[in-house]
Amino acid sequence: MPTSAARPAAVVVLAAGQGTRMRSTTPKVLHRLCGRPLIGHVLAAVEPLGAERLVVVVGYGADEVAAALPEGAETVVQAEQNGTGHAVRLALETLPSLDGPVLVLYGDMPLLTTATLRALLAAHTGDLTVLTAHLADPTGYGRVLRDDGGWVTAIVEEVDATREQRAITEINAGVYVFDAIALRAALTKVSAENAQLEEYLTDVVAILGGGVAVTTDAAEVDNVNDRAQLAAAAGALRDRLLREAMRAGVTVVDPATTWVDATVTLAQDATVEPFTVLRGTTSVAGGATVGPYADLTDTVVSEGATVRASTCVGAVVGADATVGPYAYLRPGTVLGPRAKAGGFVEIKSSTVGADSKVPHLSYVGDATIGERSNIGAATVVVNYDGVAKHPTVIGDDVRIGSDTMLVAPVEVGDGAYTAAGSVITKDVPAGALGVGRAYQRNVEGWVARRRGAEDATHDDEGAAQ
Ligand code: UD1
Ligand code: CA
Repeated sequence: MPTSAARPAAVVVLAAGQGTRMRSTTPKVLHRLCGRPLIGHVLAAVEPLGAERLVVVVGYGADEVAAALPEGAETVVQAEQNGTGHAVRLALETLPSLDGPVLVLYGDMPLLTTATLRALLAAHTGDLTVLTAHLADPTGYGRVLRDDGGWVTAIVEEVDATREQRAITEINAGVYVFDAIALRAALTKVSAENAQLEEYLTDVVAILGGGVAVTTDAAEVDNVNDRAQLAAAAGALRDRLLREAMRAGVTVVDPATTWVDATVTLAQDATVEPFTVLRGTTSVAGGATVGPYADLTDTVVSEGATVRASTCVGAVVGADATVGPYAYLRPGTVLGPRAKAGGFVEIKSSTVGADSKVPHLSYVGDATIGERSNIGAATVVVNYDGVAKHPTVIGDDVRIGSDTMLVAPVEVGDGAYTAAGSVITKDVPAGALGVGRAYQRNVEGWVARRRGAEDATHDDEGAAQ
């Protein structure tokens, strides 16, 4: 029954192949680019269509692929890859009462957009609508045969094509909308009598008496077969993501050296400096600058903050806070407004309150630092006793002297100081000075007694002791 299809009754994603040319033990559709596996990009493009059912045909590495799918996706195992027609036939067996438009596509087309799929669905009024593209080099693809009126009459695989047919540059993308009932009937008539001895889904086109084509950009229909194509697709996707971001008001100083995952959020008036990699759920707010050389994963960068040449994973950088150069913020790090994590500073599972600073060469772990406190250079929070991690609490307006060891669990009260070089093993009350080091004594005249008056004044090459 022909239906005009804004919303597909089902989406069938073919992903059973190993992808031999990937030369990998990982199933092809699980190879990653721009923050998602190949199939994740396809499912993200499909998701807004609101299909009632989503069936993924899995085969090679079936369990691994199934485990990577979102909730709500059903899988059908195709134990032997007997062809695209066979794969779709198995999928329809799990959808026995399916009626209406069914979208069929592959799990290895990361550049396909929702807009193109919507255009395909919008054009679908009969039994078949197929996505095509014109390629300068159509080698390897099925060719689209049309009659004088432009009606698609058949698709012929390259290996089965005549010389004249091979000269056709309009190719079958492998993305179709079918009427479910017509498709089910047609698939019973598909045989494996062809050069590859496979059940071709493409044979359905002629069996159905042809259909309508929607033609799209060559770039969108690229499917990934080897790792060179994976890198090329990643570059194309990156370019697209950055172009969209720039059009939305993000400054990207050097798109060629910038990588963003599809899952990253960049707000208007964010600035991304060169050689920056933004991954996962990272977000950069307006007025914030990341890079040069920032590598951020699942990190929130708030308004006006700056992150230079640093690695951050699972961190929150507060408004107008500054990070780096050469900081390493690990999961659970929260920098408050105007806080600072400076050079060669590592922080994990810790909160640094508003206006507090960890400027130089420090390790802070499992600590809570209040507001307006300063952590002197080379401070180490000794959070691990070899068995368990312990907390450290530092109040507001604290001054931790340089090279302090804070041996957790320990607390330093509001307004307290620690003397430089201290090993702090006991709590320091508010307003107190904690001193935990040997007192200095000067031994007068020691050098002359030890080495003789003459030597001591000489500028010789001997090192002082
Ligand atoms: C197929 C089309 C061809 C089209 C091309 C576009 C057929 C017969 N040919 O060719 O017209 O130009 O795609 O890329 O349909 N798969 C399964 N089970 C199988 C076979 C394939 O799940 O038994 C999956 C693969 O994992 C892959 C996709 O279907 O994701 C396409 O299979 P592939 O073998 O690459 O098809 P092509 O021969 O390239
Ligand atoms: Ca292919």
